[in-house]
Amino acid sequence: MNPNEVFVPGKFPIEKNNIYADRGSPQHSVRSAIDRGFVPLVFGGYGVGKSSMVMHCLEKERLSGRLIYIETMYKKNLKDIFQQLLEKFGYTIDKKTDSNENESGSEVGVSAEAGILWSIKAVLSGKIFRKQRRGSQLTKELIVTSPTDRKIMELCENKQIVLVIDELHRANEIAINDLSAFVRAYANQQNKFFKIVLIGTGQDASRMVYSDPGNDRALQEIGLKSMIADESRLLLTQGFDKLRLTYSEGIIEKIISTSVGVPFVLQYIGLEMAEMAQRNNRSEISLIEFESAMKNYASNKAQRLVKTYKLAIETVGEKKYRKQILHAMSKIDDEYITMEQIASEVSRRMEDNIPSTTLSGPLRDLKSDQYGGVLTNISTAYGGRAHNYHAFKDPAMKSIIRMIDEGTIEKYL
Ligand SMILES: Nc1ncnc2c1ncn2[C@@H]1O[C@H](COP(=O)(O)OP(=O)(O)OP(=O)(O)O)[C@@H](O)[C@H]1O
Ligand SMILES: [Mg+2]
Repeated sequence: MNPNEVFVPGKFPIEKNNIYADRGSPQHSVRSAIDRGFVPLVFGGYGVGKSSMVMHCLEKERLSGRLIYIETMYKKNLKDIFQQLLEKFGYTIDKKTDSNENESGSEVGVSAEAGILWSIKAVLSGKIFRKQRRGSQLTKELIVTSPTDRKIMELCENKQIVLVIDELHRANEIAINDLSAFVRAYANQQNKFFKIVLIGTGQDASRMVYSDPGNDRALQEIGLKSMIADESRLLLTQGFDKLRLTYSEGIIEKIISTSVGVPFVLQYIGLEMAEMAQRNNRSEISLIEFESAMKNYASNKAQRLVKTYKLAIETVGEKKYRKQILHAMSKIDDEYITMEQIASEVSRRMEDNIPSTTLSGPLRDLKSDQYGGVLTNISTAYGGRAHNYHAFKDPAMKSIIRMIDEGTIEKYL
């Protein structure tokens, strides 16, 4: 078997021999929300595996052709999604009667709430219409004028569609507004077969859909974090086993630690190591393959991250607190990190007592655009008490800094 049939960095691991690591409780929540007719809103940091997890949960629907996947909401409005749905059902969109023929449709397509509606006129070809007329709700000509249109909902219900809308965080305000109205209408319709799944990158799901009592009943927020060590281990060992490559526990631990639970990095390093072992006719993967994988990762994949890292850290001065903070955070396994954790790790590294008051300024700077905005705030309330956490905006950045800190890639940069 070819390593690239097993490890697929950057692709959804959904083909036959691809390795998929189960995501435990969030994965379970997605599937059960779908089965109960709720709308899962899956959110979390960059590249933690949100889209892959949803795709995995919907394998049955994908294979039976009922999955409609909208890759992104960037420059899209609900109207575009409705058109895509209608085309899937065999309709042809009548462009002549399009009420807002405009490049940037969503900017002009004012929301339903504002009282001005876009409209879609769609026509079913005579042949399909005659074939499907009996027992089905298809009408030959359809005019859709609002996000809450029942005809669309009924068609989706009849066809048992699962609609997945990804990259919700890139939607503009009008699109969010329309989508929220759509979800509210969905909640009121009591659909049995039509399902909706929403996905967005970000630590705060509440900004992706407008919340109100109508759609709160339907929505279920499900957060996903980076992979825990057991998930990373599963991904690697299943992959190597499949390729009949052997390994020591030590080398697996090394990859897990370096990748800090970023699935893309795990997949990339796994693929590089397996390919190199095969090329050299070796059946055991070892430090030799690891070093070579790191070298390729540094030169082929990490350039953008390294540039941002260099923008974030100080190049002059004695203390270099921003650099200290980043390196300290890269060594803490938790994804969400408190100021106390940072201060204690920085103090340990600098062999000095550094109070959090000294670090709060540099920490704030690391969240600003001026320094590349590598960190972000996370506020969560546990048991009524609000905690302030700090996290890397992109978990892959954490992984790179850990690699630099441990001297694994520095020589290749
Ligand atoms: N559970 C998994 N098992 C194995 N590989 C995975 C898993 N989840 C993700 N991956 C790998 O990591 C890559 C990135 O995952 P994915 O695109 O699903 O993340 P995402 O959270 O949707 O990212 P983004 O924030 O960019 O939308 C995938 O292309 C795949 O190779
Ligand atoms: Mg995604």
